Amino acid sequence: MRRAASRSGRVLTLSLLVAAPLCAVLWTSLSRADATASVPVAADEQLEAAMSEMNAALKSLGRGGITADNRDAALEALSKFQREAIVAKALTPPMAAKIDEKQRPEFVVGYRKMLAESIKLACDAEIAVLDGKFKDADEILKNKLMGLKKAGHDKYQEEEEEGHERGGKRH
Ligand code: HEM
Repeated sequence: MRRAASRSGRVLTLSLLVAAPLCAVLWTSLSRADATASVPVAADEQLEAAMSEMNAALKSLGRGGITADNRDAALEALSKFQREAIVAKALTPPMAAKIDEKQRPEFVVGYRKMLAESIKLACDAEIAVLDGKFKDADEILKNKLMGLKKAGHDKYQEEEEEGHERGGKRH
């Protein structure tokens, strides 16, 4: 009887000796997985970032806009704008959550179409630059793209809440 008890005691000790390091390894790898897991970025932060980059691309051209002198920089800026606008187009503006469920699909379609239009205009400007028509490119930017920016913001950008400071002021 006593021998049986001491045998089961030995089995328990042995199981603990095997289980403890296993648990330690498992615990370490789980916490490491946690530490390296990518932190999800909210869609509205992604949209803010894409819009900021679109803005920075256009601002990089300076007040003079597109001219023969900054041809290469203009091509670079227009490409950057197009890339970021494609990112923005795939996202849903935060305001969509506040739109009645029945109207939401139409709202999102309108948003997407306007950004597609912005990309189209940036491509038209790029083609004009490549053709050496710098004045035409600059006009597309100043007369058409900027108008679309304002229309897009009037319709799809939420008003800033009082005392609620975000990166997204009206630009
Ligand atoms: C044409 C050039 C455009 C430029 C340069 C531009 C630039 C910007 C900038 C600088 C912001 C603020 C980002 C921040 O919070 O830091 C912004 C926000 C926003 N823009 Fe535009 N935008 C453009 C066109 C458009 C268009 C066409 C639409 C809609 C179809 C649009 C929809 C929005 C929305 C919804 C936000 C708010 C994002 C959020 O709060 O998460 N933008 N944009």
